[in-house]
Amino acid sequence: MAVIPVALAGRAYEVVIERGLLDRIVEHAEPYLTRYSRTDRAVPFVADTNTRDIFAGDVNDRLAWVGLKAEWFVVEPGEDAKSWAVLERLCDWLLALGVTRSDHVFALGGGVVGDLVGFACAITKRGVGFVQLPTTLLAQVDSSVGGKTAINTRAGKNLIGAFHQPSQVLIDPLVLDTLPDREMRAGFAEVLKYGLLGDAAFFSWLEANGDKVLAREPHALENAIATSIAMKARIVAADERETLDQRALLNLGHTFGHALEAETGFSDRLLHGEAVALGMVLAARYSARRGEISDGDAARAAAAIAAAGLPASLPSLGLACNGAALVDHMRHDKKAEGTTLPFLLLRALGEAYVARDVDLADIAAFMDEELRG
Ligand code: GLY
Repeated sequence: MAVIPVALAGRAYEVVIERGLLDRIVEHAEPYLTRYSRTDRAVPFVADTNTRDIFAGDVNDRLAWVGLKAEWFVVEPGEDAKSWAVLERLCDWLLALGVTRSDHVFALGGGVVGDLVGFACAITKRGVGFVQLPTTLLAQVDSSVGGKTAINTRAGKNLIGAFHQPSQVLIDPLVLDTLPDREMRAGFAEVLKYGLLGDAAFFSWLEANGDKVLAREPHALENAIATSIAMKARIVAADERETLDQRALLNLGHTFGHALEAETGFSDRLLHGEAVALGMVLAARYSARRGEISDGDAARAAAAIAAAGLPASLPSLGLACNGAALVDHMRHDKKAEGTTLPFLLLRALGEAYVARDVDLADIAAFMDEELRG
């Protein structure tokens, strides 16, 4: 078991990583369940149909053993659940259940469920508590920690949201046994991100042990999750609202990746983690083009990403667009500042930085070169 503190003044919380934790949910979440025992009310759980089908039965049993009852709000899997309509239904449901500001709502699912529940809890009664129970690797190593919550609108993804920290994040690596391999690889891209952005030794370890992580070998998997979260917790504690160029480092690969996701219609053609993986290859290759890292280091980053079965070259996507069109998508990124964009680039494998001097015309030319292969 690993317990990683997120040291935010006044809102500190713990991330607990333990294999089989879901079986012991009552013990772990006891501080947030006792109010329900006292008041005889149902415990609000939110899941998608997949996580409900796989885990709700066991959760209901565990709660029943201590005289508690769960009430479930279930959404369809996928980004469509992060909508105004679903948010409204969820907030109405929470109000109908009579949640109070001292209560906690449990988010059992991937990033979509966590983001939606977090935002609903941020705005219901001006702030209800919540506990994250992430069930994908991506949610376990990234979105469940740090308090970014949001829904999507016609104008773009995650443009309406709030910083609202969970009270606790409970991670059970065992739940990843039922995660499809493609989603496991997409989550692994975010794990590689931590190595590339700030920990060369972790990156080397992932090069050697990535196959074990992807195979869910318990020791390797737990080390990958705990090391990733420890870095995220440090960064979030230092720069919760992304104003100091520290939390922004977590966006490595995301500006290039966002353009690729937009060009592929934010569809299953390219999952978010896959876009981030290819975005990191592009960030590394662009850093090499600027002479900041060697071509050999850029190739090493690409090789680690390809070895994980993630997309590592632009032609492999078969896009029918040019560099200017991809840059146009970048201009709509929420990180855009007027006509320019901060880019996350590499000074070394294991050292990312925010570059504010990047010329978008040069990025378009670079993307044209990359599209040609
Ligand atoms: N996923 C990036 C962040 O939490 O800041």
